[in-house]
Amino acid sequence: MSGEDGRHSFVVVANRLPVDRCGDSWHTSPGGLVTALAPVVRQRGGAWIGWSGSCDEAFAPFEAGGMSLVPVALSSEEFGSYYEGCCNATIWPLYHDQVVAPQFRRPWWDSYRQINERFAEAVVTTAATDATVWIHDFQLQLVPRLVREQRPDLSIGFFNHIPFPSLGLFSQLPWRDDILKGLLGADVIGFQRASDVVNFTAALDRLAPSRSTALPARTETSPLTAETDPSAIEVVPQATGTGSSSAMTAPRIRCYPISIDAVAVSAAARSEEVAAEACSVREDLGSPTTLLLGVDRLDHTKGILERLFAYEELLDEGVLDPLSTRLVQVAVPSREGVPAYRELRDDVEHQVGRINGKFAAPGSTVVHYLHRSYSLASTIALYLAADILLVTSLRDGMNLVAKEFVVARRGRGGALVLSEFAGAADELTGAHLVNPHDRAGLKAAIANAATTDESLARRRMDAMAEVVAGHDVHVWAYDFLTDLETRRYDRSESTGTTDGGSLETAMSQEAQ
Ligand code: F6P
Repeated sequence: MSGEDGRHSFVVVANRLPVDRCGDSWHTSPGGLVTALAPVVRQRGGAWIGWSGSCDEAFAPFEAGGMSLVPVALSSEEFGSYYEGCCNATIWPLYHDQVVAPQFRRPWWDSYRQINERFAEAVVTTAATDATVWIHDFQLQLVPRLVREQRPDLSIGFFNHIPFPSLGLFSQLPWRDDILKGLLGADVIGFQRASDVVNFTAALDRLAPSRSTALPARTETSPLTAETDPSAIEVVPQATGTGSSSAMTAPRIRCYPISIDAVAVSAAARSEEVAAEACSVREDLGSPTTLLLGVDRLDHTKGILERLFAYEELLDEGVLDPLSTRLVQVAVPSREGVPAYRELRDDVEHQVGRINGKFAAPGSTVVHYLHRSYSLASTIALYLAADILLVTSLRDGMNLVAKEFVVARRGRGGALVLSEFAGAADELTGAHLVNPHDRAGLKAAIANAATTDESLARRRMDAMAEVVAGHDVHVWAYDFLTDLETRRYDRSESTGTTDGGSLETAMSQEAQ
């Protein structure tokens, strides 16, 4: 709710606002996070803090899509150093197992810190007393602590949408202590996978041991956890202060696998327009016997080249027939100002050209490469038209495309080839799971997917759709916010409250 002073009792903080500018108006953006959180923000009269998407323009807070939006301005220079630099050329590749070499540049880090301070300032002025604040993703890892220092009254949650790296990789980050300190300002810290929780707690134990003692939590009821599952680890900071400040309340650290709006996806998959579009796509492609599909942001984490190489070999060896097989690859443009992304685009387009040069015949192209974004309805039409979806990520926080595909295909069969390095692999166990670095294994999985018995394929698809429908994006948001509420209760029950000063002291003592 927004109080008389215009402050809000529920605040979402993400790098981007949930709207795109279209001339003079703003439209709700597509995408998983917005689908999940916009209804909660609307329902609670909440606010969403984020960057507007354009540089060198300062917007005053405004209302759009039934939400109060609080823009954070970025200059072109800051866009280069904070977003393209520290976020997408340092943290992104490091957290994705160094798919390309991360670059550690001090001016970029300074900019990251400054922008995180700017976001924190916006939270401090937007949040009402005792408000709930939910901060999202790797761009804003310092914000929980920066907010906590100024506003101990707030309940602060942080959710990381991308993987958290292993200790060996995370240790390389020159600013690793600042990130751990930053995150520990939250009451609940959420990750996608149990393995991310393990990595994060290992980093805490090793790099900030006086800050934490990892204890098995009380039994959790998450569908993915068992009593001993590391996703249910609770990290308890040791009391470090004196007097009342020693009673510090622990952040809860758990995995909350994000999901999709399964109802909306299955409704779209049942619509006549989408079905008609699916039929015409297949016809336009020459009604192939086997239609393979890839739908990805054009990002080096997605393993697009690995899948193209595997496809080429399968065509070369005659396992797939170039006359009756097609691959549609949607490559959504992304982060094109970052050199590594431009190089990837060149490499992918070179490889697509090579394959078509080798195997295409007049009127029959074996790779249809679509470098643009697609609406959800048209993406679902592609899911319905295809036989096999290829998700070959080298590292991926979750991969919602895989979840959308299985829900759209319910009752229709087909196959999902899914990288074990995508978070979705933990739930979608009926997929053809692959290691995308293993070319032979990837080829075998694609060949197998193309020849699986239809009724078995349908059973597998339906079982996966059931799992996603039972754990959709609304369940995800509910689980996280319920834990945050529980933590609020725990904090109010404890004799003291979290104490930013003692946290700082403990971290710096540890560093000495
Ligand atoms: O997967 C992490 C993420 O930040 C998503 O939230 C977002 O949709 C995607 O990467 C692309 O992000 P951006 O275009 O804002 O860099």
